[in-house]
Amino acid sequence: MSLLEIHVLGSPVLREPTKPVEAVTDELRRLVDDMFETMHAAKGIGLAAPQVGRLERLFVAEVDEHKIALFNPEIVSATGKPVKAEEGCLSIPEIYGDVERPPSVVVRGLDGEGQPVDLEASGLLARCFLHEIDHLHGRLFLDYFGVFKKRSALAAWEREKTKYPALRRTLVAAKDLAEQHNEEAL
Ligand code: NI
Repeated sequence: MSLLEIHVLGSPVLREPTKPVEAVTDELRRLVDDMFETMHAAKGIGLAAPQVGRLERLFVAEVDEHKIALFNPEIVSATGKPVKAEEGCLSIPEIYGDVERPPSVVVRGLDGEGQPVDLEASGLLARCFLHEIDHLHGRLFLDYFGVFKKRSALAAWEREKTKYPALRRTLVAAKDLAEQHNEEAL
């Protein structure tokens, strides 16, 4: 497995539409493994292919005991009174804001092995699915902000963005961080 670079806001790939996957190949299974490893290193709960510079219609998510890779996801239904909660995004570090989303969804797609699945989710997992599916259509969570909130978020991002001159985040694997820590301790 290997860590992938995460594209940050300003990288054009985040605004490009993705393409449905025809078949889940070994190469795509490796991409799934790499995306999980990258998401863990970034301490995220979801990661979509455009965030690692890829245009396959794919995301990975891990919330509680649910660890999911989903190709070609579609929303079958989204129900319930929309709930507001704070979100962030691995592609827009340090920027957070409330987004209203339906509390329950059913999504359909192909699992990590290419088998068709329908997944029901509620709460944080539903929110995560909707956030990641948005990524696959070039939408970002701050697109839901009102005009003033969006303006201040973008101003904050202009400052934060200077940390990422190439519009990429390079991560350190969780185990390497632990090793670095041990060396310091010694
Ligand atoms: Ni995101």
